[in-house]
Amino acid sequence: MKRPLALARKGIGRTSPNPVVGCVIVRDGAVIGEGWHRKAGSPHAEIHALKMAGDAARGADVYVTLEPCCHTGATPPRTDALIRSGVSRVIAGMRDPDPRVSGGGLAALKQAGIETVCGVLEKECRAVNLPFIKHITTGLPYVTYKCAMTLDGKIASITGESRWISGDESRKHVHRMRSHNDAVMVGVDTIIADNPLLTVRHVKGRNPVRIIVDSRLRTPTTVDILSGPLAHATIIACTEDDPAVHRRYLQTGVSVLVCDPREGRVDLRDLLEKLGRLGIQSILLEGGSRLAGDALTRGLIDECVFFYAPKVIGSDGFSPFAITGITEMSHAMAFTDLSVRRMGHDIVVTARPEGTCLPA
Ligand SMILES: NC(=O)c1ccc[n+]([C@@H]2O[C@H](COP(=O)([O-])OP(=O)(O)OC[C@H]3O[C@@H](n4cnc5c(N)ncnc54)[C@H](OP(=O)(O)O)[C@@H]3O)[C@@H](O)[C@H]2O)c1
Repeated sequence: MKRPLALARKGIGRTSPNPVVGCVIVRDGAVIGEGWHRKAGSPHAEIHALKMAGDAARGADVYVTLEPCCHTGATPPRTDALIRSGVSRVIAGMRDPDPRVSGGGLAALKQAGIETVCGVLEKECRAVNLPFIKHITTGLPYVTYKCAMTLDGKIASITGESRWISGDESRKHVHRMRSHNDAVMVGVDTIIADNPLLTVRHVKGRNPVRIIVDSRLRTPTTVDILSGPLAHATIIACTEDDPAVHRRYLQTGVSVLVCDPREGRVDLRDLLEKLGRLGIQSILLEGGSRLAGDALTRGLIDECVFFYAPKVIGSDGFSPFAITGITEMSHAMAFTDLSVRRMGHDIVVTARPEGTCLPA
C-alpha cells in the first residue's frame, strides 16, 4: 500500500473534485501494473494499472488506496473493469466516503467472487484525501491557514509590512501549497497592504482560484490581482448587494459573490458553504490576522502551517490571529497533531486546531 500511496500523491492538486488514488497490481510477488488518477475527467488509477497488467491481471492482487467506485460519473465504474479483468483479490486502503459508493464498490466486487480487504494503511490513505473527504461529507472546503512569522510570533510590522519574513525555500513551498489547493483566500486589508498576485510562480503547477473577502467592496480596482489574464479566476466575497457597485469590479472580469452578513462582515461559514457548492474542495487561507482570527474562532480552519523565521521584531506588529479577550491560559485555543521540520533557515510547524469538525 506504500507504493499506491506514493502514486496517489502525484495527483495532489490535479484531481479535484475527484479524490487522489493510487493503484498497484501484484502477481506472484511482482508488480505487473500500476497507475494513479492524474486529473479529473481522465481514467482512474485502477484503469491505468489494469491496462499495464493486460492479461496477466487474471488471478492477481490489486492494492488501491481508495475503495473502487461502483457508479457512473465522468468515467464508467471501476468495479466493472476489475471484475472483467479476472483479478482475484482487491485490497483497499479505505472505504469511499462518497455516499454514492460507501461500501457499495467492495460489495459489488465480493458479489462477483473477488476477495476484498479494506483498511490497510487507512490513516495514511485518509491523510492524502482530507479535502475530498471533508467536502464530500460536509459540503465545506478543507481550509489550511498558512502564515510566515518572526520567532516572536509577528506576521507583519506595525506598519503592515511583511515582505519578506520567511526565506526563499519557505516561499517556494507556499507556491507549491497554492498549486495543491483549489483556491487561495485573503482579507481585503492584505490586498491593500501587500498588493499580492496569489499565483503559482516559483514551482510548476496550476493557479488556484483567488478569493478576496471584502464586505463593503473596498478593494482598489487598480490592484494587480484584478488585472491580467487570471482576473476571471478571482472572486470577491462581499455583503454589498448594490449591482452598481458590483459593476465596477465585474468590468475587470472578476466575479462578485454576495454572502450573508455577520456582525457587519462576510459570514465566513456562509461563504465556505457557497464555495463548497461551487465545487471548491480546498482553500489555502493566506491571512491576514483578522480574517484568520475569525476563521479560527468559528472552527473553520482544519490545519495550520506556521513558518517561523529566525527574526524578532518586538511587541509591535500583527499576530497570526487577531483574537482578543482570552485572559486565562485555560481559555487558550488548543492545537493538536503537531509536526515540526526545518525549511532552509526557517522552522515549519504544522498543527490542527482542536475541535475542528474533521470527518471521522
Ligand atoms: N506574514 C504573513 O504570512 C502574512 C500573510 C497575510 C497577511 N499578512 C499581513 O497582515 C496584514 C493584514 O492583516 P489584517 O488583519 O489587517 O487584514 P485581513 O485579515 O487581510 O483583512 C481584514 C479585513 O477583511 C474584511 N473581512 C470581511 N469579512 C471578514 C471576516 N469574517 N472576518 C475578518 N475580516 C473580514 C474586513 O474588512 P471589511 O469589514 O471592510 O470587510 C477586515 O477589516 C498586512 O500587513 C499583511 O502584510 C501577513
